[in-house]
Amino acid sequence: MLLENKIGLIVGVANQRSIAWACAEACLEHGAKLAFTYQNERLKEKVEKLTANIPESLLLPCEVTDQSQVDNVFAEIEKKYGKLDFLIHSIAFAPREALSEEFLQTSREAFLTALEISTYSLTQLSRAAKPLMKDGGSIVTMTYYGAEKVVQNYNVMGVAKAALEASVRYLASDLGKYNIRVNAISAGPIKTLAAMGVGDIGKMQQIVAERSPLKRNVQASEVGNTALFLVSDLSSAITGETIFVDCGYNIMGI
Ligand SMILES: NC(=O)c1ccc[n+]([C@@H]2O[C@H](COP(=O)([O-])OP(=O)(O)OC[C@H]3O[C@@H](n4cnc5c(N)ncnc54)[C@H](O)[C@@H]3O)[C@@H](O)[C@H]2O)c1
Repeated sequence: MLLENKIGLIVGVANQRSIAWACAEACLEHGAKLAFTYQNERLKEKVEKLTANIPESLLLPCEVTDQSQVDNVFAEIEKKYGKLDFLIHSIAFAPREALSEEFLQTSREAFLTALEISTYSLTQLSRAAKPLMKDGGSIVTMTYYGAEKVVQNYNVMGVAKAALEASVRYLASDLGKYNIRVNAISAGPIKTLAAMGVGDIGKMQQIVAERSPLKRNVQASEVGNTALFLVSDLSSAITGETIFVDCGYNIMGI
């Protein structure tokens, strides 16, 4: 029971394949109480079904480009639980055309949208979480290897993830004095709604299974377990890091 008496906010559940859902399952197994958000009415029903039987949970709308919805999430958490111990940020978006053309062709609009939703939202949510993390806290976000190396079709999302990883370091530096830690998990390719928008996810998985040291793909539950570690006190001296959960794919050269 690593998370007994801990309150967490999970942002990014779209369905049961979501990495955020795997994180939630791992945290629930260890006794956490969780608040969830859904992006819009279209996704509400799925998330509602998944979370309906979770005791003492909270479900709220949160489109991150709408500051009033973000403010409402933290106000409701304050009202129900009085505090927050951890935040799992597991959202990203880029317009589809920006994930198929050459990166060179990225429009200003697509660039700004990708960076606002996938990157700025971490800073936005961390700032809102800080006053509720009265006893310290832990913030975890999801990134990908395309931040460091060129991955075909990942394009502007790679730039967004590079900025996200840098944000993790700057936020960790600002929030360390409040005993709030900030880390990223760099997950290998997993078939989710968001991943379907990025080229051929099946082919990416095939390459990882062939070339990674463990000769297989990562499971969402393994990302969930790493998130559990990062939001628990077991990782109390780790902050500002990007931890790969990718069956070792990133260490390989030729
Ligand atoms: N699936 C992978 O292969 C993989 C690998 C590495 C990192 N990641 C990252 O993991 C995170 C979760 O993605 P996933 O793969 O679980 O897919 P997913 O589609 O299940 O989750 C993406 C979430 O982002 C939310 N979202 C998008 N735009 C939003 C907005 N404007 N406001 C609020 N929420 C918004 C969606 O509603 C959805 O819940 C993302 O940051 C993604 O880049 C995924």
